[in-house]
Amino acid sequence: MPSTSYLDKNFKSSYYNKFRPSYPESLVDKVVSYHMKTPGNECNLLLDVGCGTGIATKLFVPKFKKCIATDPSSAMLGCARDNISKDANVVYKEVAGEKLAEDGNVALNSIDMVIGAQSIHWCNLDTLFEQVNKVLKPNGTFAFWFYTQPEFIELPGFTDLYYKYGWSDEFMGHYLTPYQRHFFTKFNENEELMNKLRKQFTNIEFEISCHSQGHSDPNAPYYQTTEMSMEDLRHLVKTWSLYTSWVKNHPNDPKDIADRFVDEVINKFNITDESKMFKVQWTTFYYVCRRS
Ligand SMILES: C[S@@+](CC[C@H](N)C(=O)[O-])C[C@H]1O[C@@H](n2cnc3c(N)ncnc32)[C@H](O)[C@@H]1O
Repeated sequence: MPSTSYLDKNFKSSYYNKFRPSYPESLVDKVVSYHMKTPGNECNLLLDVGCGTGIATKLFVPKFKKCIATDPSSAMLGCARDNISKDANVVYKEVAGEKLAEDGNVALNSIDMVIGAQSIHWCNLDTLFEQVNKVLKPNGTFAFWFYTQPEFIELPGFTDLYYKYGWSDEFMGHYLTPYQRHFFTKFNENEELMNKLRKQFTNIEFEISCHSQGHSDPNAPYYQTTEMSMEDLRHLVKTWSLYTSWVKNHPNDPKDIADRFVDEVINKFNITDESKMFKVQWTTFYYVCRRS
């Protein structure tokens, strides 16, 4: 599987937590209402796969009686513990998605809903889906979602630079596996993923929201917008696992790769104030399905 610097003991999880976006309430509502549409379903126990610093777990805490936040990274889980209120009924487990149902990590048929926010692309999907199926109750919901590029609506052409530094083999994209590259660029036509899902799940729903491809509806459940300055963009890039891998392998770079990227954006669009806020629409996609 792709190796991720999130698993490094020294990964700066609090930095990640500060500069990564959260998810809209409309997405949470969509997922919960999908779940509750099936008669007999309840919101007792939720499990978050690859919970990281708990950004998504936090949003589901008020909807469920109890949550299990799981991640293979102790650094990430430590930050999740600090990030989520001590009063919340959350237990933390250091475990990879591929091992959920192994060695009694999580009881079989016990979970009402499994969520994966920006995480399952690090997993072997066949194994993950089998494991999720085992821990879910019959008719339980599995929901997972992603954001990819932030699209600066007022800076047309920004996405080309994003692709150059974030996706191309020349720069940080070098650390994407072909599998991940496919996952995040062909999300519109990921038949392989669909086929894997169909083996284990039913009632699959998929939706994208992408400004540059014209699929952009402010009323869509996962329409994610923020405001971001060039300073924020610098910080965001530094939260990427790809960035950490690049820096580790290029210790003698004369200039930090995130700074190179952002300075090129600044020059291209003649931005004079780095703290100036720009409107950003994130490219997002989500899947919801249920155990058959
Ligand atoms: C981009 S972060 C997402 C964190 C969080 N869910 C969020 O929404 O911000 C990806 C997370 O996946 C975790 N991860 C990496 N390999 C994993 C695996 N095999 N199973 C489950 N999680 C994994 C990483 O440790 C990291 O916390």
